[in-house]
Amino acid sequence: MRFHIITIFPEMFDSYLKESIVGRAIKNKLISIKFYNPMDFCEPKRRVDDRPYGGGPGMVLRPELFLKAIASAVRKIKSKKIKIILFSPSGKKFDTNYAKKSAKNYTDMVMISGRYEGIDARVQKILHAEQVSIGDYVLTGGEIPAMVLIDSISRQIPGVLGKYESLEEERISTSEVYTRPEILNYTPPGRGKKLKIYRVPKVLLSGNHKKIEEWKKHK
Ligand code: ADE
Repeated sequence: MRFHIITIFPEMFDSYLKESIVGRAIKNKLISIKFYNPMDFCEPKRRVDDRPYGGGPGMVLRPELFLKAIASAVRKIKSKKIKIILFSPSGKKFDTNYAKKSAKNYTDMVMISGRYEGIDARVQKILHAEQVSIGDYVLTGGEIPAMVLIDSISRQIPGVLGKYESLEEERISTSEVYTRPEILNYTPPGRGKKLKIYRVPKVLLSGNHKKIEEWKKHK
């Protein structure tokens, strides 16, 4: 999968893309990520945003700069299996099913991350980009949603998860996991707070795999 990110803040992605599973997937060339910055198309002494028609607070990102950045991404894409997404809190809700379908159906995803009050609405109208939301809350921009989609879609690409990690996904997963020590002694901060003992559930130490799977299912 090739991800093409349209953003005026590409540096926000730096440390995230270096680490862990996504970092390894980039190194192994299972995914690639390219940035296209609308600022690069901005005329000297002009801003990337402008006042909204009809008034109101905040600024609106200028359409021509975004269209130019998107065009420079799309020009390079040879495949027809391409999807263009624009992040918006009122868009279609992203979920694992969306991630699975994206990994299967597309070779190239163009993700448009807006900021401030939003991108001039004509960008979406011209491109018929699908508006996607990662949840019912308003973020300050589309960069975190882009990272969420990159992470979640990459996990669905064969080879991105190691053998062990994908096995773990297939197995019954539980939010309750434990490691050593078997007995954890913990005194909460503050005066008069007593020491408490937290044990690993007995069943996990039993070696009885059937019982362990049942416990996980129950959890
Ligand atoms: N931009 C701001 N909030 C967002 C959200 N919840 N999902 C996608 N894009 C957004």
